[in-house]
Amino acid sequence: MSEAVSAALEEAVARLAAAGVERPREEALRLLALALGTDRGGVLARRPDPLPGEAESRLASFLERRQAREPLQYLTGEQEFHGLTLAVDRRVLIPRPETEEVVDALLGLDLPRGGTVADLGTGSGCIALAVKAARPDLRVLALDRSPDALAVARANALRHRIELTLVQGDFAHPPRDWEGRLDAVVANPPYVAEAEWETLAPEVRDHEPRGALVPGESGLEAYRVLIPAARALLVPGGALVLELGFQSAAPVQALAAAAGFRDLAVREDLRGIPRILVGRT
Ligand SMILES: C[S@@+](CC[C@H](N)C(=O)[O-])C[C@H]1O[C@@H](n2cnc3c(N)ncnc32)[C@H](O)[C@@H]1O
Repeated sequence: MSEAVSAALEEAVARLAAAGVERPREEALRLLALALGTDRGGVLARRPDPLPGEAESRLASFLERRQAREPLQYLTGEQEFHGLTLAVDRRVLIPRPETEEVVDALLGLDLPRGGTVADLGTGSGCIALAVKAARPDLRVLALDRSPDALAVARANALRHRIELTLVQGDFAHPPRDWEGRLDAVVANPPYVAEAEWETLAPEVRDHEPRGALVPGESGLEAYRVLIPAARALLVPGGALVLELGFQSAAPVQALAAAAGFRDLAVREDLRGIPRILVGRT
């Protein structure tokens, strides 16, 4: 006879704790809910019931993946971002809460009605989709070098019926016909230095796409290419909004100043970390 839901829950908590997962009970409940096709309340209500065979094998597979420290979001296949439920999988970086603040910084600028914004390094499409959802009057362009990431962004755009122009390309060579035409460029580029990569949690280091996180040895390589490229894309008075990496505010600000941006300001995120650079051409 199969074990009860309550016993499966306790076993899952123990296995996740042994694997070093930070909130094992919360996550065990989440995985059981996923395996049973219910929510947290549904799991708790079914504690005395036997765990059906199908749910048992689904749970076993989820636990195996989570014990290998695969992020929970890749198991559930979803991440909330700026009010949108986005599909995520191993092809894209999981959108982070601090990036929602990048979206807010962009939306706080007085972008012209019907203007054009480009999101460089769109990944799951999170920034581009959130901007277009909040400002449907804008034309939103989204570029990434990864065809895999663009496929996820496309699926997310279809899921929410949000219109984006998705383009495969490199920061160094955005489409020529964008030059001098954009009202804003926004980006959360890869900014993790090689040495820092080794120190990251296994969820990030072993499972999220390395190319979305590490641009090179110093962590500044993507900014070096992207900032002058963005400068050439913008109209006079156009805005640049960049997410900043750990301790990168000063060097990135210097790169932006050298590329001719003015009115540069660094904003802190909700945790008090310098997180966003805003500038104007
Ligand atoms: C840090 S992720 C950000 C993804 C998404 N915008 C977000 O905030 O979650 C950086 C993205 O930039 C893309 N990327 C990295 N280097 C690039 C390059 N040289 N040219 C174009 N895209 C690049 C990666 O494929 C990845 O999707």
